[in-house]
Amino acid sequence: MNAAQMSSSTTATDVRWSGRGWPGEATPECPTAGLGWPPAPARDGTVPPGSEAVSRETPAGRQPPEPVAAPLSEPAAPVVQAEHDADAVPRETVPRRLQEASSRRPPSSGAAAAVTWPRPAATRILTVANQKGGVGKTTTCVNVAAAMAAEGLRVLVIDIDPQGNASTALGLEHHTGVPSVYDVVVGGAPLERVVQPCPTVPNLWCAPATIDLAGAELELVSMVARETRLHRALTAYLARAAEAGPSMDYVLIDCPPSLGLLTVNAFVAAAELFIPIQCEYYALEGLSQLLTNVELVRSHLNPDLRVSTILLTMYDGRTRLSAQVADEVRTHFPSEVLRTTVPRSVRISEAPSHGQTVITYDPSSSGALSYIEAAGEIAERARPRVQAEQEAMS
Ligand SMILES: Nc1ncnc2c1ncn2[C@@H]1O[C@H](COP(=O)(O)OP(=O)(O)OP(=O)(O)O)[C@@H](O)[C@H]1O
Ligand SMILES: [Mg+2]
Repeated sequence: MNAAQMSSSTTATDVRWSGRGWPGEATPECPTAGLGWPPAPARDGTVPPGSEAVSRETPAGRQPPEPVAAPLSEPAAPVVQAEHDADAVPRETVPRRLQEASSRRPPSSGAAAAVTWPRPAATRILTVANQKGGVGKTTTCVNVAAAMAAEGLRVLVIDIDPQGNASTALGLEHHTGVPSVYDVVVGGAPLERVVQPCPTVPNLWCAPATIDLAGAELELVSMVARETRLHRALTAYLARAAEAGPSMDYVLIDCPPSLGLLTVNAFVAAAELFIPIQCEYYALEGLSQLLTNVELVRSHLNPDLRVSTILLTMYDGRTRLSAQVADEVRTHFPSEVLRTTVPRSVRISEAPSHGQTVITYDPSSSGALSYIEAAGEIAERARPRVQAEQEAMS
């Protein structure tokens, strides 16, 4: 699909979105006009080592954590000892700066961990979205969150995907009956009623998703303020949390692979859109549609929303295709794309089946180091604002 096709196929008047929470009026032109595909990107069809499918199921023998209704208090600081196995990506491909990063983490105690990354002046809320499935949204969300939390930043993950993959990766039970984001978005429950501390990472909390959310898309259609329900709940939660103690530094919202009402709620609740892009053929298809819908939300529901961060995932440095995709994305989004790319890594795909992020599962693996590096880049982007505010106060 060329740029013109992408643009023309995703106009704002697209009737597919009417009645699904998207504003129905005319919108700006597709912001990705000119976004094309690298010329003649041949698919080599080879399967790189380490890309084998890995079951996402939680092992039957794993004991669930005790549910804790403690969103506003300090969680216990459990520590996970990581195993060290060979990684799918050759160690020599790990940049030196990532290897250096491995020497400083993970901290053994969250409570005692000194924050070396800047705390944002106000809570930064990032929605991790891409309607294309399987591009690494959840993996990115939980690993960036865990890397930040391991540095001592206070992070909340909101799982708004009915699949509940982020909840699984963070070691939380999310079967029907568990208080979840469904109760917040549909039932109007306060967020603190569903937020739980992550059992494997200190300073990290999660509002889990249950399969009930699958029906929420339809239930929301007839509800009042259907697009802003998560925003209202999150705003109230953050205000109460700030009164009770130190405020959250980051909120990361893991979206489903669709552009329905749940994703709209996530767009309205956040100021920043964080898009993981898989370094694969078709990676950019659908991106213009995503950005068109971002413009719709900006125009009608949340003028603060902007694409702040793009992360290239499942990068395979041995293929020209990965490099071509990376070049293409960097050409069109030079300031949004993080310098760090995340390689394909067996350890990354194994971690969720142990109810963990790769940050705790194998902190010295290339995947963990990449996510730590990416999280550090995101955190560093808050520094100018922090410095400016400090200078203004002095
Ligand atoms: N860097 C990586 N290396 C290897 N496997 C990866 C990597 N990133 C993600 N995966 C695997 O790819 C699969 C899809 O990743 P993930 O679930 O994060 O994508 P997603 O965009 O959240 O998917 P969905 O659209 O279904 O929500 C998972 O099995 C995950 O473990
Ligand atoms: Mg996901």
